[in-house]
Amino acid sequence: MSRRDPVLAVIGGTGVYALAELADVESIDATTPYGAPSGPVRVGTLAGERVAFLARHGEGHGVPPHRINYRANLVALRQAGARRVLALNTVGGITPAWGPGVLGCPDQLIDYTWGRVSTLCEEPGSEVLHVDFGEPYTATLRREVLAAAATAGVPMVDGGCYGATQGPRLETRAEIARMRRDGCDLVGMTGMPEAGLARELGIDYACLAIVANWAAGAGPDPDEVITLDDVLANVRLATAGVSRVLSALLAG
Ligand code: HPA
Repeated sequence: MSRRDPVLAVIGGTGVYALAELADVESIDATTPYGAPSGPVRVGTLAGERVAFLARHGEGHGVPPHRINYRANLVALRQAGARRVLALNTVGGITPAWGPGVLGCPDQLIDYTWGRVSTLCEEPGSEVLHVDFGEPYTATLRREVLAAAATAGVPMVDGGCYGATQGPRLETRAEIARMRRDGCDLVGMTGMPEAGLARELGIDYACLAIVANWAAGAGPDPDEVITLDDVLANVRLATAGVSRVLSALLAG
């Protein structure tokens, strides 16, 4: 088996627990100075390139957003040799361009989470980093993802603001209305601290958002109730497009 470092790591979100096309898979049960990641790191071959995959919530979706060991997840991927991460995030849409089924590559975020370990500088004696985060996603990787989507003929929204909420409950309509006023286009529960930690680690990081539902009160039916079944069904429908983008990204 090849020992080349993966050219890309993919973190799967809700509804994405494996990369179906990954071949010659080696599974790594990583340990890190921050504890164990959400599950095994699967390193294999996709479109002729080495790729690492990790299910953010665990492969059985057992880890809620606020309990994810984001530090261990990213460090485990780094230990596996990955320097670039494409984060798949299942989200709710807030503004009109972000309806269910849409794929997008946001360029901004607002962090509404609380109480999560959000830095590598926690340990006594560690150097305090104040990383630049004005542009939270890596511009070069974003451009490559968008170019890959264009090559693959998969429509993708370019830019938008991701609001990261605490979860695991969904938001109230008032919370989503406030987020819209704040400038958020999409809402998810896992975008932070993941993006900030990636920056601290010097890992290139971009988000490929999969819109699974209208956020509370944002769709044409303001009384709509969001169900996990609907969320998962919409993610399933979107995975073919995500796979095509991924293959084009790796081939590019
Ligand atoms: N809100 C927060 N996170 C989500 C949503 C939502 O509506 N849908 C999928 N993940």
